[in-house]
Amino acid sequence: MTVSSQKTPDGDKRPICETGVMTDPDLADPFRAPRTSSGVLTADFGGETLPMILGYTAVREAARDWAIYSSDAPFRVPIPSEEAVRTVRQLPIESDPPVHTAFRRLLEPVFHRPRSTDYQQRLDRLIGELLEDAATKAEVEIVRDFALPLQSLALAMLLGMPKDAAEIWISWGTHVFHDGPDSRAKGNVLDHYIRETLTSAAASLGEDVFSFLHAATVDGRALTTDEKVGIANLVFAGGRDTIINAVSRVIAHFADHPEDLSVIATDAARVNLAVEEMVRVISPLTHIGRVCPAPTTAGDVNVPADGRVSLCWASANRDEQVFEAPDEVRLARSPNPHVAFGSGPHTCLGATQARAILRSLIRMLGERTGGIEILSAVRQYEVTPAYRRWVGFEALTVRFTAP
Ligand code: HEM
Repeated sequence: MTVSSQKTPDGDKRPICETGVMTDPDLADPFRAPRTSSGVLTADFGGETLPMILGYTAVREAARDWAIYSSDAPFRVPIPSEEAVRTVRQLPIESDPPVHTAFRRLLEPVFHRPRSTDYQQRLDRLIGELLEDAATKAEVEIVRDFALPLQSLALAMLLGMPKDAAEIWISWGTHVFHDGPDSRAKGNVLDHYIRETLTSAAASLGEDVFSFLHAATVDGRALTTDEKVGIANLVFAGGRDTIINAVSRVIAHFADHPEDLSVIATDAARVNLAVEEMVRVISPLTHIGRVCPAPTTAGDVNVPADGRVSLCWASANRDEQVFEAPDEVRLARSPNPHVAFGSGPHTCLGATQARAILRSLIRMLGERTGGIEILSAVRQYEVTPAYRRWVGFEALTVRFTAP
């Protein structure tokens, strides 16, 4: 869900030392000034101007209030909206209760698979193999040759699909819509793939998620084809750039902060807190939209009927009313009530998978890596006229050294 990306070589962005704390200028919060003054930033996204709700409490309240801030809006929950890149409503994200509740309940067992010990062991094996392979090379490009295969192979595990399927998904690049010049064509590729895979699954039902959708019912009826396609579309789109950016930035963090890698290596109990803190600081999904059925206000800004607002998770996660020294990465931060995975009824269904991947990755970096050296990096920013935010890397080439 990148707005538009701007690439900057990493040379001038390596950590600097200020008042004894290692900081990175790109970790500064672009929403601090508007959040502390009015709580709202009015920003333009591809010709649509809308207010971004910035404060932690206001974001959480809006996320719960689906009558005023609705998700029942096909194509209009992501910002910018996605009419041009898909033909179906994504489910369950583009619906309100009670429709949302029924679809969410249906999908929870699939998304909770990473809770099982067997799943976690398989994920550990996958990440262990990727790290072993990376360690044999003089250099590894993390974004496309590590994070993208990791995301796709882990998704194959989640969806009960064979490893071969992940090869196809890897060929789609780092974003199912926005990795390349023609987002509409990419959207069509995804749509065709989903429809063909649904057809094959119908001919021979198995244990995979497509077969699951054929057998599924909501409110006592089978799903329509559009509903099946809409669920699958979200599964492929939702957890892709978010995971790739999180994985890449975690690896960059431990390269820049070997002292944090040593802590993880000697105290695995720190891993869970480290995952939450990395997700808070990175906030891979900057914000998400809601549509207001009736006129309302966001701070001092009037929102007309059918107007949109943004719930800005990234800003809420830096709210100084809730987080001490919010721009600092404190791996032992606790409590850490971040909203990087959202809040309220739509809280990320893929959070269990995302956490499982990051937990395994951080633990294994501690166990199996002596150090990580960044050889070159091109950072990727989300850029709008109102703000510029570091989200991930266009490319990140590193060398792993043995423990
Ligand atoms: C670090 C990685 C991730 C982040 C930061 C993230 C963030 C979010 C956020 C903020 C929402 C709430 C949207 C809203 O309120 O409208 C959400 C919803 C969702 N995410 Fe994620 N996500 C991540 C990974 C994943 C993965 C890996 C998957 C799937 C494999 C996934 C699938 C979903 C789905 C299905 C929803 C909709 C839930 C609902 O409407 O009830 N996400 N995600």
